Amino acid sequence: MTLRLAEHSKDREQQLAQIRQSLGSRSIVLIGLMGAGKTAVGRRLANWLDLSFTDADTEIEAAAGQSIKEIFAEHGEAYFRDGERKVIARLLEGGPQVLATGGGAYMNPETRAAIKAHGISIWLKADLRVLLKRVSRRDHRPLLAVGDPETVMKTLMAERNPVYAEADLIVESHEVPHDVIVGAVADALAAKLGCDAMPAPKRRRKKVP
Ligand code: S3P
Repeated sequence: MTLRLAEHSKDREQQLAQIRQSLGSRSIVLIGLMGAGKTAVGRRLANWLDLSFTDADTEIEAAAGQSIKEIFAEHGEAYFRDGERKVIARLLEGGPQVLATGGGAYMNPETRAAIKAHGISIWLKADLRVLLKRVSRRDHRPLLAVGDPETVMKTLMAERNPVYAEADLIVESHEVPHDVIVGAVADALAAKLGCDAMPAPKRRRKKVP
């Protein structure tokens, strides 16, 4: 299926073209907790940038021929984490692209190093209430099935947020339309990549009489 590119202002188009150009073969890697919006924002961001979108969890499921729920139930978390590390290392060779990773992926030091070497990481940071609201919509996440989701999420936030904070960029994932977050991500990327300093498109100046 071909997605139609979103319509943007001239300035936005210029900014997106500059991001694409500055990116080279690097991947834009979205990290953050379950419910942070990595897949939804990632898909739209890829569409805006006319890049391919890859969801690491989907790729892990394809490689295993099982859902993540099944992998956890049949082989355990350690096995899943090992597969996750390998699959992400492989995917990172395929840039430029937008890559959404599962919430635990960035906790692995090898994966963090690989992301640093091949990509630009963006932590989509959301507060507890937003995360819980979003994850309550589906029940496919094994980590949330083992206890009270609020307690699990609070524990994960305490463990993971200091590590997520190592990301190249941090963008707040508020309860606003996804395109607003994608716009904030594009602005953060442009600033990081120095696109703001690039020459702006020439504009016709009005003649002053
Ligand atoms: C996990 C997050 C999930 C998935 C798996 C484990 C985690 O991905 O990888 O259930 O450890 O936080 P999402 O963050 O896309 O839900």
